[in-house]
Amino acid sequence: MRTLRFQTRRARAGAAIATLVTSTAMLAAPSTAGAQSDSPATPAADQARPDTVLGKAPLVIAHRGASGYRPEHTLAAYKLAIQLGADYVEPDLVSTKDGVLVARHENEISTTTDVADHPEFADRRTTKTIDGVAITGWFTEDFTLVELKTLRAVERLPTERPANTRYDGLYQIPTFDEVLALVKKESAKRGRTIGVYPETKHPTYFRSIELALNRRVVRDLRQAEMNRARSKVFIQSFETSNLRHLNRLTNVKLVQLVNSTGAPYNFVATGDPRTYADLVTAAGLREIATYADGIGPNKDVLIPRDAGGFLTQPTGVVSRAHRVGLVVHAFTFRDENQFLPADYRIGTDPNAKGDAFSEYARFFDIGVDGVFADYTDTAIEARDLYYDEDTERQAS
Ligand code: G3P
Ligand code: CA
Repeated sequence: MRTLRFQTRRARAGAAIATLVTSTAMLAAPSTAGAQSDSPATPAADQARPDTVLGKAPLVIAHRGASGYRPEHTLAAYKLAIQLGADYVEPDLVSTKDGVLVARHENEISTTTDVADHPEFADRRTTKTIDGVAITGWFTEDFTLVELKTLRAVERLPTERPANTRYDGLYQIPTFDEVLALVKKESAKRGRTIGVYPETKHPTYFRSIELALNRRVVRDLRQAEMNRARSKVFIQSFETSNLRHLNRLTNVKLVQLVNSTGAPYNFVATGDPRTYADLVTAAGLREIATYADGIGPNKDVLIPRDAGGFLTQPTGVVSRAHRVGLVVHAFTFRDENQFLPADYRIGTDPNAKGDAFSEYARFFDIGVDGVFADYTDTAIEARDLYYDEDTERQAS
């Protein structure tokens, strides 16, 4: 099923890319293009914009909503991301005790909610082993949805993003249903279809406590009439076996997340010695293409950093993935110096914003098809600077 879809897409993309190359060949080259294993060998000055699989400029995926500006995974964060122009919003999903999917990055919620300030829940604090790591705190699977709704979200990074703490206490934890309803409402209001890019978090763990995520994700998408091959939906996971299962449950697009270290937890749990590095070999990518439509790699998988934090040479993973028809959506782009490669930091304040535009350009150079961004507006500006002939950077 997946293979047929890739062939169709690739055929379409071939025509689209031909058109794109023709129409952009006259444009100036991106300012940071260079000789890279992932890039065309053409000298920068003569080079059209790199090919993405669909022949379009890369998608901007609002990572946990506009999480640079609002506490992550709140309806306010998603709504702002949509207002700023996001193509997709990204909810990470975990389950409540009563089997409702809610948007949180972890099932442990002490760093993103005010749960510690609720004496009525003090006795729920506990220690659990999640994906092999002992974690102490409060866990979504120990709360009903009604109970979780009494909590309020707080900024995860109060030191790095102090301005966002003024929103602490304002917003509830949203259900996946509520995120989908917001996306539909905003799409209708704005006359453009906004996509949703859910991630199933800790699928092996949730299956082990009989709160498996896959069927619930598909059920919620179906109820929102977004469970179709043409729906603007990608489902992502760091594990592999649940994506294979999803491939049998749904026709929406699937993305295999690839971290820069370690291994999918289902490999660890079953004694499979393979790691994420094995997933992005040519053979690994061919295997992914049998059950998914793309990969979502950590940026370091595409362009590793050296010991000083400077970008090194591209690994060729984008080209290898494209060769088997997989799109490549890289995570995570953040504006602050401390998250940027050393190449693009401005000044010495780790929380000040650096030259994120040049970081995006470096990854656009190698042909990424999408970017997960905390600052939706920066990603869109960077894309305009790179791909839009009206706003592109002027050669200096
Ligand atoms: O989903 C892509 C990226 O978000 C994966 O990283 O840890 O932010 O969910 P994480
Ligand atoms: Ca995520």
